[in-house]
Amino acid sequence: MNKSSSAVFLLALGFLVCEAGNPCCSEPCENRGVCTALGTHNYECDCTRTGYHGQNCTTPEFLTWIKISLKPSPNTVHYILTHFKGFWNIINNISFLRDAIMRYVLTSRSHMIDSPPTFNADYGYKNWEAYSNLSYYTRVLPPVAEDCPTPMGVVGKKELPDIKLLAEKLLLRRQFIPDPQGTSLMFAFFAQHFTHQFFKSDMKRGPAFTRAKNHGVDLSHIYGDNLDRQHRLRLLEDGKLKYQIVDGEIYPPTVKEVGVDMHYPPHVPDSHRFAVGHEAFGLVPGLMMYATIWLREHNRVCDVLKEVHPDWDDERLFQTARLILIGETIKIVIEDYVQHLSGYNFKLKFDPELLFNQRFQYQNRISSEFNTLYHWHPLMPDTFHIEEKEYNYKQFVFNTSVVTEHGINNLVDSFSKQIAGRVAGGRNVPGPILHVAMKSIKDSRKMRYRSLNAYRKRFSMKPYTSFEDMTGETEMAAVLEEMYGHVDAVELYAGLLVEKPRPNSIFGETMVEMGAPFSLKGLMGNPICSPEYWKPSTFGGSVGFDIVNTASLQRLVCHNVRGSCPVASFYVPDVKDTGSIIINSSSAHSQSSDINPTVILKERTTEL
Ligand code: HEM
Ligand SMILES: *[C@@H]1O[C@H](CO)[C@@H](O)[C@H](O)[C@H]1NC(C)=O
Ligand SMILES: *[C@@H]1O[C@H](CO)[C@@H](O)[C@H](O)[C@H]1NC(C)=O
Ligand SMILES: *[C@@H]1O[C@H](CO)[C@@H](O)[C@H](O)[C@H]1NC(C)=O
Ligand SMILES: *[C@@H]1O[C@H](CO)[C@@H](O)[C@H](O)[C@H]1NC(C)=O
Ligand SMILES: *[C@@H]1O[C@H](CO)[C@@H](O)[C@H](O)[C@H]1NC(C)=O
Repeated sequence: MNKSSSAVFLLALGFLVCEAGNPCCSEPCENRGVCTALGTHNYECDCTRTGYHGQNCTTPEFLTWIKISLKPSPNTVHYILTHFKGFWNIINNISFLRDAIMRYVLTSRSHMIDSPPTFNADYGYKNWEAYSNLSYYTRVLPPVAEDCPTPMGVVGKKELPDIKLLAEKLLLRRQFIPDPQGTSLMFAFFAQHFTHQFFKSDMKRGPAFTRAKNHGVDLSHIYGDNLDRQHRLRLLEDGKLKYQIVDGEIYPPTVKEVGVDMHYPPHVPDSHRFAVGHEAFGLVPGLMMYATIWLREHNRVCDVLKEVHPDWDDERLFQTARLILIGETIKIVIEDYVQHLSGYNFKLKFDPELLFNQRFQYQNRISSEFNTLYHWHPLMPDTFHIEEKEYNYKQFVFNTSVVTEHGINNLVDSFSKQIAGRVAGGRNVPGPILHVAMKSIKDSRKMRYRSLNAYRKRFSMKPYTSFEDMTGETEMAAVLEEMYGHVDAVELYAGLLVEKPRPNSIFGETMVEMGAPFSLKGLMGNPICSPEYWKPSTFGGSVGFDIVNTASLQRLVCHNVRGSCPVASFYVPDVKDTGSIIINSSSAHSQSSDINPTVILKERTTEL
């Protein structure tokens, strides 16, 4: 071969390599620029309103340059918010400063979310079908194109690692790692209960689809996700929901009585098949506990409303109580739940008025990525301690007797005292539910998710530069390297669970910087937060509006348990106060060989 012919050969090869995939596979457009392929070896980045220009949207405009030069990194902001307690105690007490900071938190977070939504699992470009078909979860980043050379675009291996191997090497719990923020099981079950109203994958259609119709906080997990179910659950008297009395206390009615579909395995007797808004809430007693508390709260609010409006009919009492409970939920989620999770010394505030003079869209669409990142199964302990009893998974799952046996009072007490597992940092998913984590990775692949680093860039974080940069250690980093080949090829979910946690925190940076925008946008995008809704008359007058504005986890519990009410807490107080924890808890080691509820779960909860 002479020199010139080998040059021609090389050129042709280069051309072939280019042709192997479309040019957008390498994700050349930075800073949220939109990539459009032009033929097979050219592309165009649309940098409109990104604040950048140039071929790859990498050159900042002057104002952008100032902004990025002044903007502290997410980790710095997090550090400031989670330290300097004395400073924040003062700020928290100066209302205009607290309001200004809260307004900034809300707007800066929600501006990360495209609203109206854009893509879905089947459409990586904007179009009317993707916008209007509400059966899909939306997508923040479009799927990796089918014709790309590797599953993550152009980087990494041709094949992603075996899921079982990955899960066993990196995700499976060896020994229970408690959450250093002191998160309690009371929090964990709240998370599961609250989020399942909008994470309701339609597994008949596939993981890209949802059965939840409103893409937000509609309380369909209490009232059902369709009118027929709602009517069956309602007493149709005084606005109330149907209930039954067990040992003198109010519990949800039985399936037999109301005739709605619920998922229970065959061994559960009719008398213990409780019927609630969400079909799958028989799964764990923690869910049924919250379902019971909210049912009691709904009926209590109806009594309060009827007192003020004796002339109102069943329908108006019901509908108004529902709006009040939506308000209470958002209040508790922001001021108790997110407050705890954030670890901030800044006191968060639920006040829709903060956004009235801002650019903010009162709409929301749940995205697949939000669902994926919320698979917080490492929160679950090895066993569940309730009063003097200890339950393993087999004894706990689908056992509604636990709820009536102990009563809401004791469940709240016990769950508030038991610490949950740490989510980030790797190797903390309990064996009995490892299959759920595996399923989540399988679904992510089916939906052609981009890499963890692609999401980090999308949410204004620097991509990790090495595996050790990602995990903060060497052992799991080495496993990752062997499995993925390139740090830019690490998948989203696996990455979130092995990411180095922030100091003394439950999560790493990515979980928070991605999760917070979805969360706050979903909460504040609710119609009750809009100017025409957010006023006393919407909630039946000042009495109802006050219920919303004074709601807290503790009050919710105290209003709805008999006798003296237990401390209800999203964290185990001792842990948070002393800042130190017993790393090796007395609880039993995780047993992946423990009777595995997979079979029952697979059978009955494929639609959870
Ligand atoms: C013992 C406790 C738990 C069990 C047995 C359990 C089991 C399951 C199962 C079987 C699925 C369905 C998986 C699939 O087919 O795709 C699932 C989904 C899910 N779980 Fe859990 N889980 C538990 C606790 C939690 C907790 C504490 C959270 C906290 C947020 C959580 C969040 C989720 C989410 C977000 C989904 C996706 C739901 C959907 O897309 O429909 N789970 N879980
Ligand atoms: C844009 O990105 C491509 C591919 O990553 C690169 O080859 C090219 O040099 C970049 N252009 C500029 C102006 O930086
Ligand atoms: C904050 O203000 C309240 C009254 O508005 C007062 O009772 C409290 O002591 C103040 N706390 C601090 C730390 O200044
Ligand atoms: C949404 O898209 C799916 C998949 O293409 C389709 O089966 C379904 O009928 C669509 N829903 C509506 C309301 O058009
Ligand atoms: C369910 O919980 C009850 C009440 O604590 C307990 O007696 C029973 O053994 C549990 N059922 C199973 C199947 O473990
Ligand atoms: C916790 O357990 C591990 C392994 O079982 C052991 O190496 C470590 O020293 C223990 N730590 C404490 C604080 O007891």
